[in-house]
Amino acid sequence: MNNLRILALAIIFLSAAGCSKSTPAWEYMPDMYDFPSFKAQEADSQSPNGAAARLAPENTVSRDYQIYRYSAQDTEKAGRELKNPIPRTRSALERGQKVYNTYCIVCHGARGSGDGYIVPPYPRPPNLLSEKVDQCPYGAIFNVITRGQNLMPNYEAQVSAPDRWMTIHYIRALQRADNPTPEDLSLLKKSEGSK
Ligand code: HEC
Repeated sequence: MNNLRILALAIIFLSAAGCSKSTPAWEYMPDMYDFPSFKAQEADSQSPNGAAARLAPENTVSRDYQIYRYSAQDTEKAGRELKNPIPRTRSALERGQKVYNTYCIVCHGARGSGDGYIVPPYPRPPNLLSEKVDQCPYGAIFNVITRGQNLMPNYEAQVSAPDRWMTIHYIRALQRADNPTPEDLSLLKKSEGSK
């Protein structure tokens, strides 16, 4: 009985303390709330490199890591050997457009003609609508994005492999829009006539 009375008093006391705005609330067994923790960018003297964010052990690879055997010099070989594994669907084109407009547009420009926002001072990149890139196999373009080429940095870390393939579908769409087939034009004429 005595114990119960003490418990009841303690509850009243603690809840009253918690309600008062002028004093901080009492913390009852705060162990799990306040334990020392770091934000990722903070320093930690206990860590081997002094940073709170620990590095992954050496030679760690992600679970979906795939070996890629083509160097920046193997673009022609990649063009012969690699096929685009992603079908050209509406969602693939939309994703490709999003990636292109995020990573490539600054240099290559919205339509691919090389007039991106940072040109100049950045040297004008080649036109992606040229006959050369038009004829360039998917695998070769994939290798340029994965490994870079001369002044162009590589985008292996920023753009995942499926995103690279979808971006190439989008570049093909830009090329087609720039150089429509007679069939494309006849469709356009038809829809104008039907207005
Ligand atoms: C920082 C500017 C920059 C960005 C961003 C950039 N590129 Fe490039 N790109 C270049 C330059 C410069 C070249 C020419 C490299 C050379 O001299 O061989 C080039 C070349 C290319 C070529 C080869 C064209 C040819 O005629 O040989 C392709 C294809 C290409 N880029 C696609 C892309 C794609 C796709 C992206 C986005 C994932 C991208 N680039 C992002 C600057 C850039």
